[in-house]
Amino acid sequence: MIDRLEALLKEAKGTIKLANDPKSVEEIRVKYLGKSGLITEILKGLGQVSAEMRPQIGKVSNEVKNRISELLEERKEAVESKGGDLPEGWDPTLPGRVLPVGKMHPLTTVQKEICEIFASFGFNVVEGPDIETDYYNFLGLNFPMDHPARDAHDTFYLRKDLLLRTHTTPTQVHVMESQQPPFKVVAPGRVYRNESVDATHHHIFHQVDGFLVDKDIHFGHLKGILDNWVKKFFGSKIKTRFRPSFFPFTEPSAEVDISCIFCEGKGCRICKQSGWVEIMGCGMIDPAVFEKCHLDPEKWSGFAFGMGVERVAMFKYDIDDVRLFYQNDLRFLRQF
Ligand code: DAH
Repeated sequence: MIDRLEALLKEAKGTIKLANDPKSVEEIRVKYLGKSGLITEILKGLGQVSAEMRPQIGKVSNEVKNRISELLEERKEAVESKGGDLPEGWDPTLPGRVLPVGKMHPLTTVQKEICEIFASFGFNVVEGPDIETDYYNFLGLNFPMDHPARDAHDTFYLRKDLLLRTHTTPTQVHVMESQQPPFKVVAPGRVYRNESVDATHHHIFHQVDGFLVDKDIHFGHLKGILDNWVKKFFGSKIKTRFRPSFFPFTEPSAEVDISCIFCEGKGCRICKQSGWVEIMGCGMIDPAVFEKCHLDPEKWSGFAFGMGVERVAMFKYDIDDVRLFYQNDLRFLRQF
């Protein structure tokens, strides 16, 4: 009988642990300690037990009853406090707080979109260094020491010969002098100029350059690739026009204008009534640049282009002040 009582205690311990609400605790109490519960059931056999054994069984049965009562009491408190101890005003049925999740800066997104379209044309993305020597930023791109084309590229010097690049075009020199054509490369990145900051100028901004070098490349290839890119980026109705221009590293050179995306070329505030906006520079790579990179200009030909990420983004989203990109004002950034 003592064995049966002890086994019952063991079993009760396991059952009590599993009770999750006051109702099940009460059910367990009735099952073990109730008037017709399991303990009473065992004690019914007391009549057949010898007189000497009875006090001992009585003692054990009291101990088992008390222990089960204690455990039930503890469990009852535990399951009751689970729901009862909530802080005031706390509603556990409300949905959880959503943590703010960051997203890409609009300039990063636009730079990525620009490159992804060129990547779909088979271009590889290459990043050059922000710190350049005079050679990569200027001389290697055919800007002679005292040439006026350098005027628009005043920059920040770390030492006499180390400067912050003024454009991403130097990446072209790095690639062309270290690898063999054919090349199809886009080079995105940050550039620097000694500019006074205003609504359209900043001393740090971003560009995407690109170049393609192979055999028998001509201006038609340049127009085809850039016209296609414009249609993918701005929309299939947008037209391009190429205006003669000058860059030391391309010959001939051109500016690419696109028909205004806001008025479809009719003339509006954004295109200053002209119907066109300038979007990038381009041209056929100058033979002098090939020679500096030890590539034979008789064998290889190619084209290059370069655009400002801010300018493209400002045009695409009708943003009239470049400074908005750098102020970290969430009211502005959340719109993208
Ligand atoms: N690097 C020029 C600038 O920052 C832009 C440019 C024009 C890049 C023509 C090119 C190009 O690759 O072919 O003003």
